[in-house]
Amino acid sequence: MMDMTSNVRPADLARIETEEQAKAFIEEQIEITRAQVGDGKVLLALSGGVDSSVCAALLIKAIGKQLTCVHVNHGLLRKGEPEQVIEVFRNQMDANLIYVDAVDRFLDKLAGVDDPETKRKIIGKEFIDVFAEEAKKLEGIKFLGQGTIYPDILESDGVKAHHNVGGLPPELDFELVEPVKFLYKDEVRVVGKALGLPDGMVYRQPFPGPGLGVRCVGAITRDRLEALREADAIVREEIGKMDPAPWQYFCVVPDIKSTGIKDGKRYMGWPVVIRAINTKDAVTAKAVELSWDTLTTIRDRIIATVPGVNRVLWDISDKPVSTIEWE
Ligand code: XMP
Repeated sequence: MMDMTSNVRPADLARIETEEQAKAFIEEQIEITRAQVGDGKVLLALSGGVDSSVCAALLIKAIGKQLTCVHVNHGLLRKGEPEQVIEVFRNQMDANLIYVDAVDRFLDKLAGVDDPETKRKIIGKEFIDVFAEEAKKLEGIKFLGQGTIYPDILESDGVKAHHNVGGLPPELDFELVEPVKFLYKDEVRVVGKALGLPDGMVYRQPFPGPGLGVRCVGAITRDRLEALREADAIVREEIGKMDPAPWQYFCVVPDIKSTGIKDGKRYMGWPVVIRAINTKDAVTAKAVELSWDTLTTIRDRIIATVPGVNRVLWDISDKPVSTIEWE
């Protein structure tokens, strides 16, 4: 059996490209997990991102109700995400899923805070606090499931580690269960498909831990955050029709207002800024050329349906010098 205590990918683990290979990997991880966990209980923070979702689906297959998933809705998720997590994991996979509505708690803490790193710190700390509180309510947890993947181990000084600072507090210091820790992202997706997760989850583009919080530029307000969430859903739907779709595509709503005119009356509204980039490793990135058709469809849909927005812009900046996110 694979040595899961090591942090080096086993030399005999061939790249997982086919469903058959994924199934063999899943079977082996089921055995490994059962041997590690016995009849113990495992807790997992399930964000709904690719890594935590695949990890959860695998652990559900291995140990069923011995796994408790906690999904924290911090109010900064994309449109439809919490609903999808509940539908897939609670309804379809019959998992033990605790859904925590922490929207007010996060947004109250973030009110008036405009410094990006302070925003990140608040979101990160609050997340750990909420998760630890849920863990405390449960009896007999011995293990912590984590969707660590191989690049996380290789790049412990990489983007994720750089942005998502802070380790686990002592009350969450459980033994780790990390079934996909030797896999690269593309392999995680193949395994996710083989586990029956929906494409919308498996082929999801990267999404920062602090979520829409770093795209609602400046001090977050609920109305501007809602405008961002609605506009983001439109941008993702329209740019997602491109084949191939860009590596990452989203929008931001900066904290500025400009004049608009509607029914002969002037009013102030926010701009939505479209951003689509291609990159290999997120260290450098190139803006992706969008067609006029795509841009105008996005513009028309946003202007017609998103309250408070009166202007649509396109960010054509490369990294460097512009980072991918605006904050
Ligand atoms: P930047 O903006 O630094 O982004 O060019 C590079 C990649 O990292 C993602 N990103 C984050 N990911 N927590 C994360 O997990 C964060 O705080 C964070 N900030 C940026 C970004 O979406 C891009 O893919």
